[in-house]
Amino acid sequence: MSAPPEPAVQTVELKKTYPAAGPRPAVPAVRGIDLDVPRGEFFGLLGPNGAGKSTTIGMLTTLVVPTGGTARVSGLDVVKDAVEIKRRIGVVSQNNTLDSDLTAAENLEFRGRFFGLSARDARRRADELIELFGLTEHRKGNPFEMSGGQAKRVMICRALMHGPEVLFLDEPTAGLDPQTRTNLWEVLRGLQAGGQTILLTTHYMEEAEALCDRVAVVDHGRLLAAGTVDELKATAGADTVITVAYDAPAPDEIHKLGDRDGISKVEVTGGQVRVFATEPDGILGELVGIGSAAGVGVTDATQLRPSLETVFLTLTGREYRE
Ligand SMILES: Nc1ncnc2c1ncn2[C@@H]1O[C@H](COP(=O)(O)OP(=O)(O)OP(=O)(O)O)[C@@H](O)[C@H]1O
Ligand SMILES: [Mg+2]
Repeated sequence: MSAPPEPAVQTVELKKTYPAAGPRPAVPAVRGIDLDVPRGEFFGLLGPNGAGKSTTIGMLTTLVVPTGGTARVSGLDVVKDAVEIKRRIGVVSQNNTLDSDLTAAENLEFRGRFFGLSARDARRRADELIELFGLTEHRKGNPFEMSGGQAKRVMICRALMHGPEVLFLDEPTAGLDPQTRTNLWEVLRGLQAGGQTILLTTHYMEEAEALCDRVAVVDHGRLLAAGTVDELKATAGADTVITVAYDAPAPDEIHKLGDRDGISKVEVTGGQVRVFATEPDGILGELVGIGSAAGVGVTDATQLRPSLETVFLTLTGREYRE
């Protein structure tokens, strides 16, 4: 019987505290994260600014040294086997790190040569990727004269030159317009369909929801929840969240809604009311009605259907902001 294949990524209690520097105290950026990503999976690390996503991806790609716990990529230890891991992974960082002295194609070929391909093989592989990513017109282009989306595609091609076992992408669509973003989603879906294991970080709920087989929600260096998007919704937020802002403190009547079937929770903070409901129909109208009966008007109202956003709200009690 052959051993089961090593998971693509596995971490146990992974931690990183950046040391104090001058007046700045030490920063516990990652405080014990357990991840398990099987091969072939499209996995997302989702969290707001400063959650610890880049630090985590930095440790997995051997650029940041952990201060606690362990991390293995393709079965190799990120500290002891850093050199070998670098040969087996592809990394796409958030900013443009292409070489501006080289054309797009040369950037790819150069990377291929670095990984030991012959000049001929490097060229062939670069040509394949350029075609696959729809970059033919830009093959001789300067990477810094391209649009953000084009440059990002070149960076992904470069990361794929040596056929990495795991592709890491740190915020691949940050700063791109919506159309370019969805184009890039198509590209990434295609890669996964071809068997590529992908781990990405993102701020965007809808990106994680659109792409990822499984998602880990991180905040303040901790894992709040992990699972398929459906699992997360089922465990942490099968609710629709209705938020209403009154122009005065919320009427007491509102609290009674919490006892009703189909309503899981009611939160009142001054004039702001948030209702978590499995049966949301009619609640918004009712909130308006209760207000006007008490002489209180509604200045703002939103209704969020169950989504990663409501999961985040349920897990943290805070609105998800980019
Ligand atoms: N090199 C560093 N030295 C000290 N502190 C750092 C360093 N890099 C990151 N941090 C801090 O660690 C915390 C986590 O940062 P990190 O970049 O991992 O978050 P992130 O989830 O990637 O955020 P963003 O969405 O803004 O990219 C933040 O408080 C950040 O200020
Ligand atoms: Mg980051």
